Amino acid sequence: MKRYSRITGTGSYLPPRRLSNADLVIELAGKGVETSDDWIVERTGIRARHFAAPDVCSSDLALHAATSALQAAGVEAQAIDLIIVATSTPDMVFPSTACILQHKLGVGGSAAFDVQAVCSGFVYALAIADAMIQTGAANKALVIGSEVFSRILDFTDRTTCVLFGDGAGAVVLEASDRPGILATDLHADGKHVGILCVPGNVSGGKVIGSPLLTMDGQAVFKLAVGVLEQSARAVLAKAEKSTSEVDWLIPHQANIRIMQSTAKRLKMGMDHVIVTVDQHGNTSAASIPLALDAGVRGGKILPGQLLMLEGVGGGFTWGSVLLNL
Ligand code: UT7
Repeated sequence: MKRYSRITGTGSYLPPRRLSNADLVIELAGKGVETSDDWIVERTGIRARHFAAPDVCSSDLALHAATSALQAAGVEAQAIDLIIVATSTPDMVFPSTACILQHKLGVGGSAAFDVQAVCSGFVYALAIADAMIQTGAANKALVIGSEVFSRILDFTDRTTCVLFGDGAGAVVLEASDRPGILATDLHADGKHVGILCVPGNVSGGKVIGSPLLTMDGQAVFKLAVGVLEQSARAVLAKAEKSTSEVDWLIPHQANIRIMQSTAKRLKMGMDHVIVTVDQHGNTSAASIPLALDAGVRGGKILPGQLLMLEGVGGGFTWGSVLLNL
């Protein structure tokens, strides 16, 4: 009998400090940076974001999200045999945030590693966990996206600092004889490294180059809408499904205009798209599992429905996962 992987529980966590656009506008004005609620809402759809306290790391946010996903799945942490954390804001250079999280969960012995694919990280991590479950290399996986992007923002650059937030989302993925994940599709094109990056690195006890995020927003926007459509069509073709069968599109939450144009190109109504960018901002690898959990807990996403998760981001990376919940 064929082995599949199924999501059996979802969870998420947002740090308590919430900044509305109005709060951020005031904070930035104190730094001599001019922006407005109108500009942010009109160009991005973002109305608020959450920032973690200075002593809170990605593993702390991940712990809350993972605990909630485990509870929803009715699975004990010690039964997990694979932990994958997608993050571009790890606690340390090494070891992985996944190993730190494993210890914080009070367990040991499972495989644990991080995936670095920036805003596509969760989709990459889910595709890897699915493949490992299908081959029998794992039975019960925790797959998490967790980020503290507030740590790498340049709060003097209004073109980027208004866009991002902190948070974590998690799923428990288990082996099953029923699908589950139907198809996955992952890509990257390294020639676009420079359009979205944190170029700094640690060398000889110093940070060499800037440790802050820099982005050519328009270049990212144009690439994003093209590849999201392509990847959606590719993953649907692999599973022999059509867009009309998709109950919910859960795209990376970067900009409402990217989501609208993706939905339009796929001839899907916005009433089939889960939108949380207004409340979370762009939380990079955490955005898709945060949106998934909000949809599940909000009663929109129901068991058995067909979901398309789509990520796109730095690398350039992109990809999709099509699944039955
Ligand atoms: O997570 C990975 C994926 N990331 C993304 O998908 C991001 C993709 N890109 C975007 O979402 C959009 O390109 C942005 C939201 C980043 C920018 O929107 P845009 O419509 O492309 O604006 P723009 O860069 O063309 O800037 C338009 C104007 C400029 O002024 P001028 O040159 O026309 O006078 C900017 O200086 O808006 C100005 N501007 C701002 N004004 C007020 C840029 N940022 C701000 C700001 N507040 N925060």
